[in-house]
Amino acid sequence: MKTTINKAAANVNQEVTIGAWLANKRSSGKIAFLQLRDGTGFIQGVVVKADVTEETFQLAKSMTQETSLYVTGTIVEDTRSPFGYEMQVKELEVIHEASDYPITPKEHGTEFLMDHRHLWLRSKKQHAIMKIRNQIIQSTYQFFQKEDFVKIDPPILTGAAAEGTTELFHTKYFEEEAYLSQSGQLYMEAAAMALGRVFSFGPTFRAEKSKTRRHLIEFWMIEPEMAFVTHEESLEIQENYVSYVIEQVLEHCQLELTTLERDIDALKKIKAPFPRITYDKAIEMLKEKGFTDVEWGEDFGAPHETAIAESFDQPVFITHYPKDIKAFYMKPDPERDDVVLCADLIAPEGYGEIIGGSARIDDLTLMEQRYQEHNLAGDAYQWYLELRKYGSVPHAGFGLGLERTVAWISGVEHVRETIPFPRLLNRLYP
Ligand code: 4AD
Ligand code: MG
Repeated sequence: MKTTINKAAANVNQEVTIGAWLANKRSSGKIAFLQLRDGTGFIQGVVVKADVTEETFQLAKSMTQETSLYVTGTIVEDTRSPFGYEMQVKELEVIHEASDYPITPKEHGTEFLMDHRHLWLRSKKQHAIMKIRNQIIQSTYQFFQKEDFVKIDPPILTGAAAEGTTELFHTKYFEEEAYLSQSGQLYMEAAAMALGRVFSFGPTFRAEKSKTRRHLIEFWMIEPEMAFVTHEESLEIQENYVSYVIEQVLEHCQLELTTLERDIDALKKIKAPFPRITYDKAIEMLKEKGFTDVEWGEDFGAPHETAIAESFDQPVFITHYPKDIKAFYMKPDPERDDVVLCADLIAPEGYGEIIGGSARIDDLTLMEQRYQEHNLAGDAYQWYLELRKYGSVPHAGFGLGLERTVAWISGVEHVRETIPFPRLLNRLYP
């Protein structure tokens, strides 16, 4: 019977055939251990000389890394491996023999691995990260479906910059000038006025000349937008969403978390509600922690976020940033004109900002004033202004960066390993 590695539990003591690749092997005179992978998982195949033909045993010993094959044998329980099963191999049938696979079991440098990303993805660690990424995406759809959100797809080619004009990728749109989307938000606001609660999930692009462990040029964002929802209500949805995702990853990705040697206890602590501190309070905390030169009105960098996060074992919301360092659409605090009703969610363990969100300006006159201040002239933004003209309502939304979230939950150092083919400063290959 043809099956896959992930179905091992259902096939204990049965003879099965699996299409696989040889990830690694070791052998002695009488026994060979094949590390097999089939995409669904990894399993050890044990080939005992006395139990197979001489030809099969010789093949097991000589087979090269990444050779593809059909393996037939019996699945048995194996309490020593984290996976819990192994295969007693009876027959091997090579499909394609690989030679000189460049990623050997020895250590390789990051640049070498990045140049071979199309192959590196096959490794056990990268496999685990992609499975966790997939689980986060699935849990995102489940969460927003159960909370009555409608999935909406904003355009990727756009004439409107949501997050400022300095980090845009320009492209020709026939005779017109267009950009690759930095954020679907403005369109999601229009969608929220039509469907109430909406979310998007798509690629976004920032021509940011940042070379840090948190920055990608192309990254995927989940952007919910909600009509008749206040800033505080939006924070509740955010913390419930993040808690749900963590709970689901803990439930479905135990093996992957173990493979990545993730500290699972740290993840188990993550439960809504999350602490909230104001930007003012954050400045105070930073000064106490020895950042004597931080000034009110400056944006926080990675070291600041990390220092604040250290005081909490949950993600922490930093709210009410100065209006001048935030986007044009953020709603001012009615009690204080110099700060806005916004929040960044800072992940623990130094992973930094994973969510940016805010209440949006819903007053036409104030929005017109912001247009003037930010030079948002022309047709590209006219439609967005009209949302404030016809039945404007209080609304709020946020954007969660998928790759930073995957990095945090998986416990990997750098976002380059959290997306199949990262686009980085100076890297468009493979
Ligand atoms: O804070 P940002 O820029 O917010 C927005 O784009 C809003 N329009 C979202 C909204 O309210 N609908 O980006 C949101 C999140 C950040 O918190 C971060 O997780 C991620 O997107 N992000 C990046 N991730 C990887 N590489 C980059 N260069 C990123 N820039 C932002
Ligand atoms: Mg932000």
